[in-house]
Amino acid sequence: MNIATPLPRLENLLPPDQDHEHRQLLDGLLQPQACINPKYFYDDRGCELFTRICQLDEYYPTRTEAAIFEQCADEISAALTGHAQWIDLGCGDCSKSRRWLEHITPARLIGVDIAGDFLQACLADIADGHPELECVGVVSDFTRRLDLRRLLAEDPDSPPVFFYPGSSIGNFARTDALRLLRGIRRHCGEHGQLLIGVDLVKPSHILEAAYDDAEGVTAAFNLNVLEVVNQLLPADFDPTAFRHQAVYDPRNCRIEMRLVANSPQTVRLGSTAVRQFQRGEHILTEYSHKYTTTGFSTLLAEAGFARQQLWTDPRHWFGVFLAEPQA
Ligand code: AVJ
Repeated sequence: MNIATPLPRLENLLPPDQDHEHRQLLDGLLQPQACINPKYFYDDRGCELFTRICQLDEYYPTRTEAAIFEQCADEISAALTGHAQWIDLGCGDCSKSRRWLEHITPARLIGVDIAGDFLQACLADIADGHPELECVGVVSDFTRRLDLRRLLAEDPDSPPVFFYPGSSIGNFARTDALRLLRGIRRHCGEHGQLLIGVDLVKPSHILEAAYDDAEGVTAAFNLNVLEVVNQLLPADFDPTAFRHQAVYDPRNCRIEMRLVANSPQTVRLGSTAVRQFQRGEHILTEYSHKYTTTGFSTLLAEAGFARQQLWTDPRHWFGVFLAEPQA
C-alpha cells in the first residue's frame, strides 16, 4: 500500500448507547421463546466461519448469485446508472462490489458495515487501485435505521445505487423487510436504484442441507454465537450443551436456525439475570426467508419500486432484482 495515501474517511453511525443494545440482547434471551439477533454471529470467528459456509457444496446462494452476476454482467451493467454513488450494504471485505467496479464507474463507493477497522482497510485497498474513486466507510448496524441522506447530498449529481447482495434481506420478517426497502426507497429520490439478491423458495431438503452441512461448519457458526454472547453480556453459556438445528417452515417460507439444549441448563446472563433451559428447549438464532419471484416483486412494489428487472439462474434458485422508482 502507498503510505502517502490517506485512509478513506470513516463515519460512525452506531448508536452511542451500547447499553441499550445489551439490554435488547438480554431481553431476547429472557423471552418465553429465547432468541438472539443474527447480527451477533459476526465476530472475527463468525466472519471466518461464514466465509467457509459460502464455499460449502451445500450452500448454493453465494455461488448461484455470483454465477448470475457473471452470466448477466453486461446486461446488468447496462441497466445500472453510471457515475453513481455505489452503496454496498453489509459490504464485508467489499469483494462483491469490487467486481462491479470493473463494469461500471461510480463516482463514489460507500461501504456500510459493522466492523469499522476491517472496513477501512478494505476500502483503503480499493482506493489504492482506483485513485479516481472516492471511498467512504460507514460503520453502522444498518438493520436499524440508516440515514445516509446527508452523506449522499454531498454529491447531488450522482444518484445512489444501493447494492444489497447475498439474500441478507432474508433475515427480516416481511414487515421489517418492507420497512428496510422503504428506507432505501426514500434515499433513492427519482433516479436511484437498488440491486438486490434474493434466495428463492425451493424443495425443503435442499434448503435444510444448505443450513446444516455435512462438515458441520454451519453448526459451528451457529454455536459460536453463544461465545459472542458470553463475551458481550457477559454470560456463561456452555456451547457444548447445545446442538445446531435448521428447520424449513414452508408456511412462512423460512429456514429457522436454532440452538437446542441437550440437557437442562441454567445460564447466568449479565450481572443479575438467570435463564433456565429445559432439555430440548431451543434458542432461535436466525430466520432466513425465501421468496417466490412474484412475492418479492410485490414487496418491492409495495416499497415504492415500480420498475423492476429480474435475472435468475437456470434452476431458478436465486433472483437478482434491479429496482427503480419510476415505471
Ligand atoms: C447472510 C443472512 C444471507 O441466511 O443464508 C448462512 C446467513 N446463516 N448460513 C443466510 C447464514 C447460515 C445467510 N445470510
